Amino acid sequence: MAARTPKDSLTILTDLVLPAETNPLDNLFGGELLARMDRASSIAARRHCKRIVVTASVNHVAFSKAVPLGSVLTIEAKVSRAFSSSMEIFVDVWIEDRESGEKEKVNEGIYTFVAVNETGNPVKVPAIVPETELEKERYEGALRRKQLSLVLAGKMDPHEATELKALFT
Ligand SMILES: CC(C)(COP(=O)(O)OP(=O)(O)OC[C@H]1O[C@@H](n2cnc3c(N)ncnc32)[C@H](O)[C@@H]1OP(=O)(O)O)[C@@H](O)C(=O)NCCC(=O)NCCS
Repeated sequence: MAARTPKDSLTILTDLVLPAETNPLDNLFGGELLARMDRASSIAARRHCKRIVVTASVNHVAFSKAVPLGSVLTIEAKVSRAFSSSMEIFVDVWIEDRESGEKEKVNEGIYTFVAVNETGNPVKVPAIVPETELEKERYEGALRRKQLSLVLAGKMDPHEATELKALFT
């Protein structure tokens, strides 16, 4: 399988925030944002591996700023690292000012997707070669985050989490 780059998987979803998607403060409901981020990540993962993909874990989400009703919301998702059957997807969320068009980052998240066959069993995915400085930084940290996610899910013994342990030595 030929290696791919993060930009091969770039997925950009732009949409409005409508009244049915908001909380009592007239800001976007968190679960709605998570669903949109999950959809964008899913498309990015599929673009990378060209297989069926499923969400294995949501590793991190930071709701840094509220997203007001009527906002134009842009979600950018890209595969940051591919392992054997799993892929880490980085998601950046922006809103834009109505008058200036200037973009402000309001949220980010990190998802893990796994490529599976028709019976739901994991299959191998192509490798990825990061190009930009940010892509390289995200690629480097991905193994640490994978180990943390596996430890939290009870799927890895913390003693085997070498990358995590290295943070404290
Ligand atoms: C995701 C799923 C396919 C993993 O199956 P599994 O039996 O754990 O398979 P494996 O142990 O071989 O793991 C497969 C890969 O997923 C990774 N993985 C599994 N759970 C993970 C987690 N919580 N965090 C990060 N990575 C995880 C493994 O590290 C492995 O990665 P690698 O092959 O790149 O090294 C399976 O758990 C599943 O189908 N879950 C339901 C998915 C779903 O329905 N999602 C939508 C939710 S509504």
